[in-house]
Amino acid sequence: MKNKITVVGAGNVGATAAQLIAYKELGNVVLVDIIEGVPQGKGLDLLESGPVEQFSGKILGTNDYKDTANSDVVVITAGVPRKPGMSRDDLIGTNAKIVKSVVEQITKHSPDTILIVVSNPLDIMACLAKQVSGFPKNRVIGMAGVLDSTRFRAFIAEELNVSMEDTQAMVLGGHGDSMVPLPRYSTVSGICIEELIPKTRLDKLIERTRKGGGEIVALLKTGSAFYAPGASAVQMVESIIKDKKRILPCAAYLEGEYGIEGLFVGVPVKLGSNGIEEIIEIKLADEESNSLKASADAVKKTLSELKI
Ligand code: NAI
Ligand code: 2OP
Repeated sequence: MKNKITVVGAGNVGATAAQLIAYKELGNVVLVDIIEGVPQGKGLDLLESGPVEQFSGKILGTNDYKDTANSDVVVITAGVPRKPGMSRDDLIGTNAKIVKSVVEQITKHSPDTILIVVSNPLDIMACLAKQVSGFPKNRVIGMAGVLDSTRFRAFIAEELNVSMEDTQAMVLGGHGDSMVPLPRYSTVSGICIEELIPKTRLDKLIERTRKGGGEIVALLKTGSAFYAPGASAVQMVESIIKDKKRILPCAAYLEGEYGIEGLFVGVPVKLGSNGIEEIIEIKLADEESNSLKASADAVKKTLSELKI
């Protein structure tokens, strides 16, 4: 296979992403982790599912960044997940050290790669990855909006008892409780959900979306979500690898777009072989725009706590 995709962190999200990348035949997969044996074991196990799942391509589990050389895309999931009672922002100290060391090693071996950051707190880790890599803004992308939107889509589809595939949704802002679900830009087969769901019910779905990550943490107790996060990261990988130019909500480095300066915040972007090929500025109503600014302010506040 022509493309090489590295996933750093062979834990729940990383292993799920590696599995989907392999099954979708997006490229050869390198799975890296700091723990000896884990990426090798999971990599081998995944490879051995190939004859049943009928995919081709190489899978390598490793602790050595030399094996990641010349990756086309790198998905960074290394770090600790939150436990009940913790916010994503509580992870900042531990994960900043991990993400910094990962990015240093990745960029040394793959200076032209595209980074998709997953580790939390997401918008801050994306910012750190940009700083440490020195990459241009099109090559550092945070995964959060696809996840927050797929949660909103799932809740809408369940509420209306309609197919998930006909359900579209847009969630912007930082990856925290201040995120901004946009019902006006959320549809079922083109019909705005505001026409289909009464406001009181819709408000409940919006609130559930905002707290979607916490709902899973409270159930799992020992970690956070990984099926939907893994699938969301791989949707971004696929759009880049296949140059699909999908418009997806992703954390992008903003330089004045939406009135936000010098921060990673979730906005709709076009994802293709050059990474972020365009930041789409949609027209927001005053209330939506104020919510996005408040969300950006929350990201800025957490960023001020980043010490590296
Ligand atoms: P996990 O604990 O299952 O896996 C994390 C893996 O990272 C472990 O295997 C660990 O050994 C590895 N690791 C730690 N330090 C490392 C280093 N220096 N180099 C390489 N690997 C290292 O955690 P999980 O559930 O996979 O989550 C990973 C991260 O992704 C967490 O920070 C979590 O909060 C975040 N996350 C973000 C989401 C988003 O929407 N942006 C969604 C879900 C998770
Ligand atoms: C989530 O939203 C943990 O950020 C992760 O599930």
